[in-house]
Amino acid sequence: MSLTHLISIRDLDYREAITLLDTAEQMAATQSRRVKKLPTLHGRTVVNLFFEDSTRTRLSFEAAAKRLSADVINFSAKGSSVSKGESLKDTALTLQAMGADAVVVRHSSSGAAHRLAHAGWMNLPVLNAGDGTHQHPTQALLDAMTLRRHFRRDASDPNTDPVAPGTDLKGARVVIVGDVLHSRVARSNVDLLTLLGAHVTLVAPPTLLPVGVDQWACDIDYDLDHAISTEPDAIMMLRVQRERMSAAGGGFFPSPSEYHAAYGLDRQRFDRLPEHAVVMHPGPMNRGLEICAEAADSARSVVVEQVSNGVCVRMAALYLLLAPEGTSRD
Ligand code: CP
Repeated sequence: MSLTHLISIRDLDYREAITLLDTAEQMAATQSRRVKKLPTLHGRTVVNLFFEDSTRTRLSFEAAAKRLSADVINFSAKGSSVSKGESLKDTALTLQAMGADAVVVRHSSSGAAHRLAHAGWMNLPVLNAGDGTHQHPTQALLDAMTLRRHFRRDASDPNTDPVAPGTDLKGARVVIVGDVLHSRVARSNVDLLTLLGAHVTLVAPPTLLPVGVDQWACDIDYDLDHAISTEPDAIMMLRVQRERMSAAGGGFFPSPSEYHAAYGLDRQRFDRLPEHAVVMHPGPMNRGLEICAEAADSARSVVVEQVSNGVCVRMAALYLLLAPEGTSRD
């Protein structure tokens, strides 16, 4: 694979996406062993550079790097010299000087990961762990891995060519619900799931859809009950990003209870989902707002599975970007 960074799903072609997902499956196979650690990245150093809060992404990138035997340096903007005004550029130069071999970055500004990778400040692979409202590529990959495990087209079907673009998740129908406007998860998922052949419908109030969404490769529905009546295979509830709403002055919906009534996955809607449908959420969940506890904790919720798959996807991304050509992955 010729990738030097992982900044956006839009940088991937079909084969590269499949290579990442197949490699993640190979990594998953190693994670059921008693000894989970692989020697692949021994002697390499991965820096986790987090300018925004994170639980799942930061911890799973750390776990992924450590399972590949890399050394990990965790940098959090809180408590660092960023509070004294240090720039992204000077932070990058400092990391390179400390001998980093790859940088994982989360930043509140859309485009920060691209800038770090392409500004010429340093010469290291950059993995985007979420930039503003733009992209969160490893989240989309872990979501696709989760969906593949439930709905992947039967590879033995003689009527389809398994390597033809768009066949991997062909026929899978995914409904993504909620705060699309602020969601890098929604953008990344629309890009990746449609690349893999799935059909995606976004459901949101008009105030929570971005300008230009009609150009995206998906359908739009303003009515969650209608979207559920189409019998999707998966429903992905998005977090209502109240921190970005208050920064923008609020006013995106009348009240939390009205949002929940119109766009929450409540008990009644959950009961109307097809029996085979899975419930997804990237986390962290606002229980009682976008999703009820019964749905979040049900046997059809794959939220915990998504987190486990996140470690495997991040192992795959680090392996493909950092391991020398021909290095064994087991
Ligand atoms: N899904 C996700 O990015 O979660 P964190 O913000 O906890 O990393």
